[in-house]
Amino acid sequence: MMKILTLYLATCAAAAPLAGRATRAFSVLRFNNVADKFSTEGRMDPIISPGAASAHSHGVMGGSNFGLTVQGDQLLHSKCTNSMIKNDKSNYWVPGIWYQSPRNGTFKKVPLFYMQVYYFFDITNDKVEPFPPGLKIVSGEAGKRTPPATGSLQLDPSMGPIQAVQFTCPAQGDPDRYPKGSDGTRGGLADPTNRGAGAGFPVINCDGYASPLRQDVHLPSCYNPAAGLDNHHSNMAFPSDNHGKLDCPAGWVHVPHLFYEVYYDTPRFAADWRPDGRNQPFVLSDGDRTGYSLHADFVSGWDADTLRAIINGCDTGSGGMDTCPTVIGGVNRDDKCVIDSVVPDPTDEWVNVLPGNNPLQGWGAGGY
Ligand SMILES: *[C@@H]1O[C@H](CO)[C@@H](O)[C@H](O)[C@H]1NC(C)=O
Repeated sequence: MMKILTLYLATCAAAAPLAGRATRAFSVLRFNNVADKFSTEGRMDPIISPGAASAHSHGVMGGSNFGLTVQGDQLLHSKCTNSMIKNDKSNYWVPGIWYQSPRNGTFKKVPLFYMQVYYFFDITNDKVEPFPPGLKIVSGEAGKRTPPATGSLQLDPSMGPIQAVQFTCPAQGDPDRYPKGSDGTRGGLADPTNRGAGAGFPVINCDGYASPLRQDVHLPSCYNPAAGLDNHHSNMAFPSDNHGKLDCPAGWVHVPHLFYEVYYDTPRFAADWRPDGRNQPFVLSDGDRTGYSLHADFVSGWDADTLRAIINGCDTGSGGMDTCPTVIGGVNRDDKCVIDSVVPDPTDEWVNVLPGNNPLQGWGAGGY
């Protein structure tokens, strides 16, 4: 008996490296928020512009210890979070979207519709680990005004340059979202593999049922501890395909793959502009009319044991992470955890310039 058991254990150890994941799982983190708003909005970005007003405005979700600087495990001590997982005090942020009046060129902020963050646990030979507290991740290129190679996503560094951002435009009747034959220099690029999505702003009113215009950003999931928590230029990479498994470089830590979906209440402006198949009135808060500069930021404020239990035991799919079988610390059903803005956006409904005085750039800048 003893001998058989020993043999059995030895066989298991040899056949199955216990570290990896053989099946893909995912779960969607949801937030409680005041209608139309992120937890805080304004010119704040503790990763790119620590200690100072950032160049453009962002919308931020998550833990209340967000501020102009975020260091180490500061977020873990937040008094509250609007994440529906109480032990997730992380911050998640993106550049906001503004509407430019085609009549007079002034701008109005487009209200948030809602935001959610997919936590993907990809198939890998690696052990997937919780984020270390204070890990800073940036995805997308804030300065980008030129088109990517295609309208598709490209998340594998072994296949060429990373293309981790898109817009998705749910629409009734499935019309073309981008100008026909666009080369990306005067309008966005349709995703050849997904008609609803593409690179840059679409040129139609996105009128999907309860699904307006959406920012989509994938974040890299390989962390290089040698680079460190704060070194956002080089501390993260996307995993590469290794015979059907997504593996990180040796010595790196494989963390969850985050995907932000941020819906904006663009239908509210539908009566104010007329789609002509070429132009569109929305602009990112950095003045980018193309949308190519879409980006997203993350700082981890996760309690490690809570996230580990979710990585190992939660596969709710599109269902909320708040329905995972094990949520250490409990679920947050109502705390909206509004955070005071240190550099708030103007309160005027219509403004002549974008916060931070960012000039318009990209397709059609200068005319309206
Ligand atoms: C500019 O146009 C918008 C509609 O596009 C309107 O609501 C706003 O009042 C106008 N502002 C001025 C100063 O005319």
